Amino acid sequence: MANLSLSILVFLILSLLIQQNECANIDVYELKRGDFSIKVTNYGATVLSVMLPDRNGKVDDVVLGYDSVKDYSNGTTYFGALVGRVANRIGDARFTLNGVVYHLSANDGNNTLHGGKTGFSTVIWTVKDHKADRFPGDVSVEVTYMLIGTNKLALRMKAKPKNKATPINLASHTYWNLAGHNSGDILSHTIQLLASKITPVNKDLIPTGQIVPVAGTAYDFLKAREIGSKILELADGYDINYVLDGTGKKHFHKAAVVHDSKSGRKMELWTNQPGVQFYTSNMIANVKGKSGSFYQKYAGLALETQGFPDAVNQPNFPSQIVSPGETYEHIMLYRFTAE
Ligand SMILES: *[C@@H]1O[C@H](CO)[C@@H](O)[C@H](O)[C@H]1NC(C)=O
Ligand SMILES: *[C@@H]1O[C@H](CO)[C@@H](O)[C@H](O)[C@H]1NC(C)=O
Repeated sequence: MANLSLSILVFLILSLLIQQNECANIDVYELKRGDFSIKVTNYGATVLSVMLPDRNGKVDDVVLGYDSVKDYSNGTTYFGALVGRVANRIGDARFTLNGVVYHLSANDGNNTLHGGKTGFSTVIWTVKDHKADRFPGDVSVEVTYMLIGTNKLALRMKAKPKNKATPINLASHTYWNLAGHNSGDILSHTIQLLASKITPVNKDLIPTGQIVPVAGTAYDFLKAREIGSKILELADGYDINYVLDGTGKKHFHKAAVVHDSKSGRKMELWTNQPGVQFYTSNMIANVKGKSGSFYQKYAGLALETQGFPDAVNQPNFPSQIVSPGETYEHIMLYRFTAE
């Protein structure tokens, strides 16, 4: 992994406890290489924009977002956010670790979504009410956004428990639309997901604990095809964890390839994580976004590499418990081209 850190232009360091009250200013940081640039804010360590040229050199912003950083604090979409301490859903907002039952805040029906009411995505590097989420112990978290060369973006998320074992599962919740953030839906993008299995969920989107093959179903994206080609066979679009085939074979593996034939933009994604949540903005409806745009259902797609959802309550899923002395490390590498 040494060659990943070729050019670290900005560090955002999120430390939930130490930086309390020390870093209350919200700032926007830009990383730029020619026509390729990203903007990140320290509010939720959120990606605000990703500017990419298309095959003719026309530059568009290809991630959904809000106009002002303030909108991110009362939005419910997690646009671009870094979510945690445990991304995705935890059933019944509770789990047991080392004989202790931990009760979390329920912010999605009776379940906990993306860390609960005061998840990392709502942290301005000033933690106002950390106590609402009773995850065990304290954790220091560090997120690094890196532009590498002329067309790669890497995220490195590192977390270390300070005093107690705790579940940790971070995810970057960027919504992509390679034709431009306000260009309509992503149904004609093609996607390849290098995953032969998924973890099915119940009606509240909590995993049943099964791991089932995608072959012959609308979930099968082993060969690239249009996202919309079978979406109507599903109850409500894609919102499911894929079990990545590269897991276990290689530390760092390819997860997905997305292509938009209109602009030619293509995005490849590699990770060291076992799963990727594929979400097609099923719950987005008339959300007021950047530059006066309104986003509708299927306006973007999220590819949230991570551990499996609700792993704290699913004994057959890979464990997300990290003990003091251990380091959680999550890497994402995007490569953008236009063809
Ligand atoms: C947040 O609240 C402000 C003030 O009420 C409102 O103008 C804005 O549209 C809201 N943003 C979102 C994303 O809900
Ligand atoms: C939450 O749990 C309670 C008690 O089991 C149940 O009555 C209620 O319907 C649940 N709410 C949702 C939104 O599932």
